Amino acid sequence: MNTVRSIQDEILKLKKEKDICILAHAYQSQDIWEVADFVGDSYGLSLQAAKAAQKNVLLCGVRFMAETVKILSPHKNIFLSHPQAGCPMAQQISASQLTELKKQYPGYTVAAYINTTAELKTVCDVCVTSSSAVKIIRSLDSRNILFVPDCNLGAWIAGQVPDKNIRLVSGGCPAHAGISPQRAEQMKKRYPDAKLLVHPECLPEVSAQADYTGSTTEIMDYAKNSPDTAFIIGTENSIVEHLQFACPEKQFYALSEDCVCSNMKLTTLMDVWHCVHGTGGEQITLADSVIAQARRCIDTMLTLGS
Ligand code: 13P
Ligand code: SF4
Repeated sequence: MNTVRSIQDEILKLKKEKDICILAHAYQSQDIWEVADFVGDSYGLSLQAAKAAQKNVLLCGVRFMAETVKILSPHKNIFLSHPQAGCPMAQQISASQLTELKKQYPGYTVAAYINTTAELKTVCDVCVTSSSAVKIIRSLDSRNILFVPDCNLGAWIAGQVPDKNIRLVSGGCPAHAGISPQRAEQMKKRYPDAKLLVHPECLPEVSAQADYTGSTTEIMDYAKNSPDTAFIIGTENSIVEHLQFACPEKQFYALSEDCVCSNMKLTTLMDVWHCVHGTGGEQITLADSVIAQARRCIDTMLTLGS
């Protein structure tokens, strides 16, 4: 009978034989983490993608992440773990809509969250991730910035970098933006000794109540390194489980049971098994012109963010 362990062993053996690097976003499940070469947030995945030595890369996460890997490593074979795994936020603004919008903001630097399509990245100046956004926006020469598509992340950045004039559009993550400020108040009352850690994709009224706001990896690092022993976690609920596993002696509570990303949850260990066997996943292809143009804003992100 197959077990999780036997399937993982087969994946580990095959990925070595077939020269495959497995990159997993932190929202993936524990059984996938254990077969990955690297697990991290969007920024960490971009850094690893740029330096992975293997000829083939399997991205366990959502489509924009696999596209970013392809843009950074156009000569490698890049696979997405599940063909239907996309980030709904990436569909909220198209390249042609942004081109129109830019006409209303002449002279503005256009910054896009990395949770966007490769096509959209061809018409912006710089990309940011949640962990690199503040540093990158602060270091831009321009005071005037048009930020798309996450208005909650954008509002949080604006609060951290008040000297910039940041214009926002309406968009955001359905999972994070669904957490109400009232829920944050209730949870803080229920667990008064717990620190509230949230992702900047949450509503500003939720982030305003947090003890710490950061990316998935930053939230995990904060909780692991903190002398505190109880935490309310305001991001996708897989992080609650990963933290419970990493720090069994500490207490972790989900800020909301509904903060679940169904797209991130699509990939299973058996999908990974199929990918390394060549019977699953999707190979990412992008036009050379898209890769060349989209790469400029990702390179700028890596330069300013490092
Ligand atoms: P991170 O930058 O924390 O990886 O966030 C990506 C994401 O999609 C969060 O919802
Ligand atoms: Fe997109 Fe939200 Fe899922 Fe992150 S959690 S991948 S932003 S839908």
